[in-house]
Amino acid sequence: MIDRRTFITASSLAAIGAGLPAMPLWAAQALQQRPIPSSGEMLPVIGMGTSGSFEVKPGSPEQLALRDVLRRFFDAGASVIDTSPNYSNAEDILGELLVSQDLRAKTFLATKLAADNRAAGEAQFAQSLQRLHSDRIDLLQVHNLRDWRTQLGLARELKAQGKVRYIGVTHFLDTAHDTLADVVKAEKPDFLQINYSVASTHAEKRVLPMARDLGVAVIINRAFEDGKLFAQVANRALPTWAAQVGVSSWAQLFLKFALSHPAVTVVIPATGKPHRQSDNLGAGYGATLDQAQRDELKAMFG
Ligand SMILES: NC(=O)c1ccc[n+]([C@@H]2O[C@H](COP(=O)([O-])OP(=O)(O)OC[C@H]3O[C@@H](n4cnc5c(N)ncnc54)[C@H](OP(=O)(O)O)[C@@H]3O)[C@@H](O)[C@H]2O)c1
Repeated sequence: MIDRRTFITASSLAAIGAGLPAMPLWAAQALQQRPIPSSGEMLPVIGMGTSGSFEVKPGSPEQLALRDVLRRFFDAGASVIDTSPNYSNAEDILGELLVSQDLRAKTFLATKLAADNRAAGEAQFAQSLQRLHSDRIDLLQVHNLRDWRTQLGLARELKAQGKVRYIGVTHFLDTAHDTLADVVKAEKPDFLQINYSVASTHAEKRVLPMARDLGVAVIINRAFEDGKLFAQVANRALPTWAAQVGVSSWAQLFLKFALSHPAVTVVIPATGKPHRQSDNLGAGYGATLDQAQRDELKAMFG
């Protein structure tokens, strides 16, 4: 009997010997996981978003590609998918793909409340369940703190009723970090979701240390600045130390930067392209960045 890792390493060496492309060595390891502080439940560190990428026409080639995006995601052992009723038809597309491929049970499904009063929040949640073909949501977040007192209260009630497993609040702008920190301090939700990247490190000032102190799980959005970071590195070589931390692309480096903050639980890059999904998943293995490496990246993009 040989274990999977030994087998894959041997296969990779044999493939190199035969002049064939080798299976990446990281594929032999498990995607890293981190605990949700309020429960201890473990989550894979690479998740995915659905803004833009899942807002596609039913039956289009883009929707077809999403089947492969999801297949690669679950094959790697990832599970956290973030969506919102605010992302046009993303919940519909995601719900259909999950149910038709029997993937719902493997998914840690996060959606949001983006409503202005109690009745609208209730109606929106009922619609999300329908669109996502689910009778339960793993994480229900108040989107951009909209009507947060009422909506967080509703989310808490839904959690008490067993319709939601965890509750959270989100934002994506530095200017909202202080308000978000105040809400998190007062309400101590299970999760917060915030923007954080090599170019936007404002969350380090208050939100991330507070999350760590209070035991609130952190989801990072916009780790690629909505894709804008890639234009900045178009002709730039990776730092010389990249291979030492298992990084073979800028995407992986940007994701590892976010994951190297000790308060961070999961990062949720969004892509509609299968090969980019594999690229992004590659950031969930091997060492994280040390302080000097993090500082070098901040100086490069700050
Ligand atoms: N307030 C909130 O709650 C809030 C706000 C913002 C975001 N979010 C969540 O966070 C998720 C992520 O944020 P985001 O979608 O705004 O931005 P992002 O993940 O920073 O960037 C997405 C962009 O990066 C590109 N990309 C992805 N992987 C790549 C790779 N390996 N190489 C090159 N380009 C790559 C994508 O293009 P392709 O699709 O063409 O690959 C897309 O244009 C969202 O989808 C959403 O679920 C939540």
